Amino acid sequence: MERLQYNYLFPEISAREAQHVKKYPNAKVISLGIGDTTEPLPDVVALSMANYAHGLATPTGYRGYGAEQGSKELRKAIAETFYKDMGIQDTEVFVSDGAQCDISRLQAYIDSSVIIGQTGDVETESGRYQNIEYMKCGPQNSFFPDLSKTALTDIIFFCSRITLLVAIEVSSFSKIAGFTGVRLGWTVVPKELMYSNGFPVINDFNRIVCTCFNGASRIAQAGGLASLSKEGFKAVISLVDYYKENAEILLETFKSLGLRAYGGVNAPYLWVHFPGSNSWDVFNEILEKTHIITVPGSGFGPAGKEFIRVTAFGHRENILEASDRLTTLLK
Ligand SMILES: Cc1ncc(COP(=O)(O)O)c(C=O)c1O
Repeated sequence: MERLQYNYLFPEISAREAQHVKKYPNAKVISLGIGDTTEPLPDVVALSMANYAHGLATPTGYRGYGAEQGSKELRKAIAETFYKDMGIQDTEVFVSDGAQCDISRLQAYIDSSVIIGQTGDVETESGRYQNIEYMKCGPQNSFFPDLSKTALTDIIFFCSRITLLVAIEVSSFSKIAGFTGVRLGWTVVPKELMYSNGFPVINDFNRIVCTCFNGASRIAQAGGLASLSKEGFKAVISLVDYYKENAEILLETFKSLGLRAYGGVNAPYLWVHFPGSNSWDVFNEILEKTHIITVPGSGFGPAGKEFIRVTAFGHRENILEASDRLTTLLK
């Protein structure tokens, strides 16, 4: 792991925020950084978790370990809510404790070369690791690479709201239902997905889950199920709408300043382009002059070096305040 260049991005940003707060103890720092949800959970969701937890204190309600893959009811609800027209079965849905954990499990078991730093040395000039194929993703191709032109690799990691038909999809309740602290996610592994020798990937994934995970918290799963109920889902969607309005405010702000911003439509993040600039310099200048935390795009790979990422998760008053401060700095 020594070969990995930097610490993970977000602890580095937190360290810079801590330094900033020390320097300006009276500043009101606004975080448009990591993208943590801010609005309270719907009552129906919180109550279902509270009731489940309370049931655990009774002889009839007590339960121990559950299925490693998650409760059948929740797997079914996920398949029906998100993959209805795609023929995904509940048995292809694996409930997890969040997307980050499943992405790590995938890296650790299916191809550990990136996570343990076996992808060669980093080239200082380009910031690229020797044995990683970087897919071309930018405004020119709407951030969607031409997979047919991508060199053959062992594994492709790709973040998109467009669902690919036969691929492993890692998803989460974190952003859609405000579960960043509750911890619940899922991964879909379609049965059709095979290795080149015809062995089904789902068998391996099942094994990974059973080996290094003992199932998501039953309390979190009760909340997940409630958030997919008719009433719960309606409440969850109105939370999502709130964040979407935040994103619109930010998009308008950057547009009015003559900057190009991407994303922010059906997505909680915006990528703002500062042509010719270095994203850490932009990050530092915005923090120093407006007390706003953003995320330097280079933290996501060399293609991000002229971008900063801002999140639309936040209380409305903070988003409006951030918009005013950015307008003053950048106009
Ligand atoms: C877009 C996006 N998806 C997923 C995650 C992680 O999700 P989870 O909280 O489920 O681990 C993050 C943050 O780490 C994220 O920014």
